[in-house]
Amino acid sequence: MSEARLLISWYSVTGLNAALARAADAGARGVAGCRVRRRPAHRTRVEDLAWASGYLFVAPENFGQLSGGLRLMFERCFYPLETALQGRPYALIVGCGNDGRGAVRDVDRICAGWRLRPVAEAMIWRGGADMPAAQLREGRAQARELGAALAEGLAGGIF
Ligand SMILES: Cc1cc2nc3c(=O)[nH]c(=O)nc-3n(C[C@H](O)[C@H](O)[C@H](O)COP(=O)(O)O)c2cc1C
Repeated sequence: MSEARLLISWYSVTGLNAALARAADAGARGVAGCRVRRRPAHRTRVEDLAWASGYLFVAPENFGQLSGGLRLMFERCFYPLETALQGRPYALIVGCGNDGRGAVRDVDRICAGWRLRPVAEAMIWRGGADMPAAQLREGRAQARELGAALAEGLAGGIF
């Protein structure tokens, strides 16, 4: 079995998605047999994407679409890896205000272009960065679980 390697590429301005990405990272790092890289979108390199055997993308929705920071990462890296990532698994977290479905649609469309495989239902966490602390704690707990599940799936060869 080849080594399990999870890349978490994230974008955040006011902190919600940064917190969810950190929680997912903590969950994934608790799993033996999976290496993890967590990179902000602007520092996510083609090499990081090529290195990984699975992906977790974390970003807000803005104006009904995937926010620009993560979109730029995809735009920068898409063609250098056009056919290189086929079949690899991915999951998505969208921390947003009151919707999130547009960002999910955009990421799914981009990932379909890379022929990545969705392996979990997208986690949409609504309420914005100033949501009540208990709600943020619950979001972080779910993100942590998703990170762990992805790492377990990769380490166990399930995906
Ligand atoms: C210009 C702008 C547009 C936004 N548009 C949407 C939107 O279309 N749908 C939504 O659910 N939230 C929307 N939001 C809310 C953000 O997704 C929310 O503030 C989120 O917490 C931002 O993520 P961050 O805290 O990780 O930066 C918007 C926020 C801004 C500033």
